[in-house]
Amino acid sequence: MDLLSIDSLTDEQIDGLLETADLFTRRGGGSTRYAGRIVFNLFYENSTRTLMSFAAAAARLGAVPLTLPVEQSSIKKGETLADTARTLNAMGPDALVMRHGEDGSVAEVAQLMDCPVLNAGDGTNEHPTQALLDALTLRQHFGRIEGLTVAICGDIRHSRVARSNRKLLERLGATVRLAGPPPLLPDDLPGGGAIDEAVRGADAVMMLRIQRERLAEELGDSPGEYLASYGLTVERLAQAAPHAVVLHPGPMNRGVEIADEIADHPRSLILRQVANGVAMRMAVLDLLLSA
Ligand code: CP
Repeated sequence: MDLLSIDSLTDEQIDGLLETADLFTRRGGGSTRYAGRIVFNLFYENSTRTLMSFAAAAARLGAVPLTLPVEQSSIKKGETLADTARTLNAMGPDALVMRHGEDGSVAEVAQLMDCPVLNAGDGTNEHPTQALLDALTLRQHFGRIEGLTVAICGDIRHSRVARSNRKLLERLGATVRLAGPPPLLPDDLPGGGAIDEAVRGADAVMMLRIQRERLAEELGDSPGEYLASYGLTVERLAQAAPHAVVLHPGPMNRGVEIADEIADHPRSLILRQVANGVAMRMAVLDLLLSA
């Protein structure tokens, strides 16, 4: 079994992952269950949270995480993605965690691997483990997902996080509102709107950074202008439900999509998301390694 998309999972598997990850957050400590197993990390794009939490998750399960330093690898000598995949497969890993800038590239590599492949983000397509850890964070805070209204705001067009979250949260019974600057709203994700409308009365507000590395041309807004027009400020958060919480998958650009005081606000669950990332990736690795 591979985890390429939220669509890779049945409803029962999603429920099981949320339960297992929740147990991992409360149990702490490690396990030797997967001693002797090897998890390869192949990241063609930068990462702090996803790479380190997959490595920590593998280690906490007793497996050995090994990360290919892409900048020092034979990829830089012109080796193709397919030949890199075949080369890594020949070494017999028990799982491959992969991030790449091209939509669908992780699925292509999965065709060449004999082990489970986990999508750690492919282009603008999907980032399923981020959505799963976000759902865990919301479920722990509210005790449920069903019936929640979640506003996802910012660069929706380039966001694999928004795409996976929308699929997962809607499957779990939440209402998802999308908002952002018109050039950053995609044609295939209809229903986007203004941030003030999206935030009004919402139970949770998830902010996304502008993915400048994927922009054909600059937006032209200064950071202060962006924050005033599209960012989450104290004034804007006050329009959400009184109990509303703030999420951000990271990395944050403080003072652009999120005001400094909101990032560190008591209602910010951003570091809880990071902590839950390890637990959810333990649950996901457990599911795939035990299959
Ligand atoms: N949320 C997320 O994918 O962060 P990283 O790019 O740091 O892994």
